[in-house]
Parts: sequence; structure tokens; C-alpha cells
Amino acid sequence: MSIQGFMKRTRWCGELRKDDAGKTVILNGWVHRVRRFGRLVFILLRDRTGLVQVVVRKGSPAFDAAKKLQPEYVVAVKGTVRERPPKEVNPEMPTGEIEVIAEELQILSTSKPVPIPIHDESLMSTTSEAVRLRYRYLDLRRPKMFRNILMRAKIVAAMREYFDSLGFIEVETPYLARSTPEGARDFLVPSRLHPGKFYALTQSPQLFKQLLMIAGFERYYQVARCFRDEDPRADRQPEFTQFDVEMSFVTREDVMEVVEGAMKHVLKKVFGEDIETPFPRLTYWEAIRRYGSDKPDTRFGLELRDLEISEGTAKRYLVVEGGKGITEYLAAEAVKVSGEHGVRVDVITEGDLSTYGAESGDAVIVAEGDYLSVSEALGRLRLSAASKLGLIDKTRRSFIWIIDFPLFEIDKETGKLAARHHPFTSPNPEDIHLLDKEPLKVRSLAYDLVLNGEEVAGGSIRIHDKELQMKILRMLGLSEEEAMNRYGFLLEALDYGPPPHGGIAFGLDRLVAVLLGEPTIREVIAFPKNKDMADPLTGAPAEAPEEYLRDLYWLQIKL
Ligand code: AMO
Repeated sequence: MSIQGFMKRTRWCGELRKDDAGKTVILNGWVHRVRRFGRLVFILLRDRTGLVQVVVRKGSPAFDAAKKLQPEYVVAVKGTVRERPPKEVNPEMPTGEIEVIAEELQILSTSKPVPIPIHDESLMSTTSEAVRLRYRYLDLRRPKMFRNILMRAKIVAAMREYFDSLGFIEVETPYLARSTPEGARDFLVPSRLHPGKFYALTQSPQLFKQLLMIAGFERYYQVARCFRDEDPRADRQPEFTQFDVEMSFVTREDVMEVVEGAMKHVLKKVFGEDIETPFPRLTYWEAIRRYGSDKPDTRFGLELRDLEISEGTAKRYLVVEGGKGITEYLAAEAVKVSGEHGVRVDVITEGDLSTYGAESGDAVIVAEGDYLSVSEALGRLRLSAASKLGLIDKTRRSFIWIIDFPLFEIDKETGKLAARHHPFTSPNPEDIHLLDKEPLKVRSLAYDLVLNGEEVAGGSIRIHDKELQMKILRMLGLSEEEAMNRYGFLLEALDYGPPPHGGIAFGLDRLVAVLLGEPTIREVIAFPKNKDMADPLTGAPAEAPEEYLRDLYWLQIKL
């Protein structure tokens, strides 16, 4: 059927109210549900604003078409808004005080039975993620998913509004580039015109934003896609989005203040909530000591305590009030965590617990091993215990800064010194004298913003001194030649009047997921990859046509 002459909407489904009674309206949308009786057809009609009930009576010119309707058919309806009698009011629906009596109905397109229960959220628990991603366009028809993507757009708009108002300039930087390392593997793109050579998809705009500061832009932001070939997790995607920021002539405090202002603005504008700033700050070691994590969930207490600390080994513990009731759960978790962190963990619920400051009915979890591993193991158990006992107040938004990270860490695989943030992060000037003798003690000028136990942003003050930058790269095991080969363009730029600068990047997907209370970032990305980094909808990744590979000299490279 031709839809050329279709009746175009005059109103949105979700906006009709009692005041509209008596008006003639045209609605466009999808059939959410349809119920047929002998002389009546009830259609629940949906567009992106919500649902409204449409009634088609026998005798109406719309009746014949209405009899054919199935869920997800697309229709145009012309009708009159009628106030429902009090006993027919549906208080669950914003439009529940009215209905539309149909006079004309056009079927604009039909639909097969849908593999996703768009009309009933309660059935979603039985729908696999594979099906949801394979038919993502249907999954996105669910009002809940539409809302998530809409809220994401509102959050980005509020962020842009805030940074624009402070004189930040949005600049796009390349995706096809030289490797910009953020600790992950690069996705490589072979170059047809330069056989045997590759672009790296940027892991972040880090080096480009530093070049923009050297260029004198002073205040930059970008909504930037980042590509990292990492093993996926609930909070990670191979491509994700950063709201990326950089500023010149600033201290750590300046950047943190701007970020706090951004969060205050977003929460107010998008959620109507007032939040308190400045956010509390914890040093990295304080966070490890109290919470066993560098991204502590501070919506509840349950802090770690010391039993015995000596050179090389630590015995630390956690008192779980009322934990005796979940002994089996805690014991099972303890086994898991103990294996993963390589520490001994005991769950004690019997005997005299007073030495731990605990009472009967409590559980005491004691861990023994090296200080960091013990703390991290207890940190994990702290989270398990709190969620099992329902100690986490889901309505709270708990922002916290973590500062004074160590500049370096030991890479578990290579045993060598590695940058904890990235190699362009400035050491704390107070610790520069430790660089040669005790590098692991050097604190950096990096900061992470944590919200409800998730790292939602991370950044640092950068090195703007070429000698210091060379030294750090040398300490990370790069020869002068390797350093020049990989980062020569940045090192060279540092010869031409680099201003002191620093910045931060919000993990936008994570920020949105946490703000909306979603368990994974896949719920706030329109077309995410699945757990195997594949896209069941488009079938990516896929084989490439032979002639492309020939053009790319791939076959020669493989040989
Ligand atoms: P970093 O690597 O800490 O810093 O990234 C910043 C934020 O991005 C988010 N994030 C991710 N989100 C989804 N999937 C991933 N695979 C993923 N990896 C990171 C996190 C993180 O806090 N250039 C620096 C920033 C800077 O120094 O200004 C950077 O990229 O929420």
C-alpha cells in the first residue's frame, strides 16, 4: 500500500491529557498491544513519548482495518479524545484519564511476530542477550532502552553546554593515527597506499589534546570514540566514548574543580538533583587501606582493619555485622577471591570474636599475604558482603576523588616498570628526588573520579618538560631511538613552548550507566558489541573480500 498520502501526526501519543478531551487528533505509531472484542477493538498505541489507548467501535470506518492489526504494525489513527469515566481510569498510565475514539485508521506497515517482548518488560528476563543484540532495533523499541539512549543524549548535551559556557572549544582529532598508548592493545588498520604499514585506531585522543595545548587552544573538549583491543568485561567495550578534556595553565585542583562543576550541572539539569561539591578526596593508599580498592564504593562503611602488619606480610580483616547468617556465601566467595589474589582468607563465625571488635552473629574475614593483595581481596569481599546483606543504598550518588596514585607499577607479565596512568603523567614535584632510587614510591599528579564504586573519569597533570619526559620514557624501558620513533612528534613539540597543562577523560558510557543505575555499559550504548567483541546484528567482524586483501598485500605479509 502506498503511504504517500498517510495521515501525519498532529499530536504525540504520550502527551494527551484530560484537557485534550473533545479534540480531534492524528497519531502515528506502533501497535503496542491489541485486544479484540466483538464490537470493540482496543489498541495500545506507542510512539517515543509513550502509550495511549485507542478504541475502535464497530460501525466506525476504522473497524475493518483494526481487525487486521497485530503487535508492532505501524499505523496512523485519526480520532477524538474522550475523557474516560472514573471507573475506567488507568492510574498506571500518564494518559490513563483519556482514550482516543478512532474514526480513521491506516496501516502504514505490517510486522512479523517480534522475537523480543517489547510490550512486557517482565518477560525480558527470559530474553537472551544474543537475541537482544541480534534484533537491537527491536530491543531499542522498548521504552526502557529508548529512555536510556535519550538520557545519554541529554547528559552529553548538558556536558557540552557546561564546557561551552566555560570557553572550551570542541575539536575533532584523528582516529586513524599513530599508536596512542593507554595500556591496551591497538586495533590496527592496514594501509593500502603504504603496503605493510598500519594506522592504529586511537586508544584515546591523549597525544593530540596535548598538541592542542601546545598549539595554544587552552581549553579543549571532544566527545571521542576510543578503540582498545582488550578482553571485554561488563564495564568495557572495544570501542567506547570519552568526554575528553584538556586545559592549559592549570593545577590539579583547577581540573578537579571544573569536573565537579560539570557533575553538578549534569545532575541538576538532567536529573533535577543538587549535589554537594567539592567531592571528598582520598589518596590511593588511603583508599586501599580503608576499602581495599582504588575505586571504592563509599555508599556504605564496612571498612578494612589491621591485625598485624610486618615487613612483607600483612594480616588484615573485615567485620561483617550479622554476617553469620551468610557464612556459606562468604566462605564460597572467600575461596574464589583467595585464589585470584593469591592470599589466605578465613571466615570466622565461631568462638570469641571480641579480639576483632565483633560480636556473636557477626562474621570476621581475615586475610593474610602481601599488603596490597590482602587489601584488594578484602575489598572484593567487602563488596560481596554488602550487596548480599543489602547494605548499599541504591538511591545515593557517592562521588569521590582518588589522588596521589603511584606514578609507576610493576607490570605483572613483564616484571618491568610500567606507567600506572600513561607515560605523559607528571610526577608529583615533591617526589622527583625519588625517581632514581625508589621509583615505586613516586606519586603522580593523576586523579580518578569514582562514582558508586565505578571509575567514571581519569586524568592527570602532564609532563611539559622534555628532559623529564625523556627520562620517564627511559625508565619505562624505551631507548632514545624507540622513544623518538614512537613519540617523536610529541617530544619535538615539547621543544616549542609547551604550556603547563592537564586534563581528564570521562568514560561516558560508564558515567551514563552508573547515573542511570544500569548494571552494564551495554545498556546505554545503542549498538554495543557482545561479550566476544562481536556484533550479532551486522555480523562484524567478518571476512574481507579477497581482492581487498590482495590490495592490502595481506597475503604477502602473512607469508
Ligand atoms: P583512561 O584510560 O583512564 O584515561 O580512560 C578514561 C576513562 O574511560 C573509561 N574507559 C572505558 N570505558 C569503557 N570501555 C573501556 N574499554 C574503557 N577504558 C577506559 C573509564 C576511564 O575512567 N587519556 C587518558 C585520560 C587523561 O589522562 O586525560 C585516558 O584515556 O571510565
